Amino acid sequence: MTDTRTPCMVLGDRFGAPPDVGIVLGSGLGALAEQVEGRRVAAYTEIAGFPMSTVAGHAGQLVVGKLAGRSVALLRGRWHLYEGYEPALVTIGVRSLARWGVKNLIVTNAAGGVSPRLAAGDLMLITDQINLTGQSPLVGMPAFVDMSAAYDPGFREAALAASRECGVELKQGVYAGMAGPQYETPAEVRMLAAIGADAVGMSTVLEVLAARHAGIRVLGLSCITNAAAGGGTGAGVDHKEVLKTGAAASERFGRLVTAVLPKLK
Ligand code: HPA
Repeated sequence: MTDTRTPCMVLGDRFGAPPDVGIVLGSGLGALAEQVEGRRVAAYTEIAGFPMSTVAGHAGQLVVGKLAGRSVALLRGRWHLYEGYEPALVTIGVRSLARWGVKNLIVTNAAGGVSPRLAAGDLMLITDQINLTGQSPLVGMPAFVDMSAAYDPGFREAALAASRECGVELKQGVYAGMAGPQYETPAEVRMLAAIGADAVGMSTVLEVLAARHAGIRVLGLSCITNAAAGGGTGAGVDHKEVLKTGAAASERFGRLVTAVLPKLK
């Protein structure tokens, strides 16, 4: 149940000690929030500095509790450049978790498959990213953040081990972040393949920059919801299909996250 007593809260004042792991839930992957034990929920409207999240499939809630024995805080709904938010606001959730004292983060998203190795419904461990938004939340800091191991190698090993243990297949690849909101043209998808991207989406890359700047260790998981630009089928990409495929994968996604959480240490 949503508790609306405290407007303008600071996360530590409301929820106490920071959780072991923060989790940013992507489009259609919000169902994981239902599995959190001892759930305490704050609407984004109650949290200082959080703009309302507006995209269909994004709820706009912070959910705090326990999952697989770890204390977690789930950001259910995120902010995107294509909604008109500046990089500072796109990363407000991650920066708030960092200020709270969160040290470990799982970022998740829905993405289009660029590589022919990836099919709709696949889960992909993000091994690295390409920021094609032309923007950075670190402008003006200035912060020459090392991005040579942005997605934590130990966390990647943990995710692969969890995948083997829980029997949820996990592919691997490089995530390219575009500003959107339009989906890609076939020519853009060919460009993405040529520069080394395996999947493409409209989120995550700025959040990971902010997280690394704050010294947070990051695990990234994509749900491949479609072939980018329809994969040459002529079918194109439909946002409703993206949400539907994400929802259909959410049970496997939840099992994987539950299996990996105890290993993020
Ligand atoms: N492109 C960009 N973002 C996406 C896609 C896509 O094909 N699918 C889900 N998010």
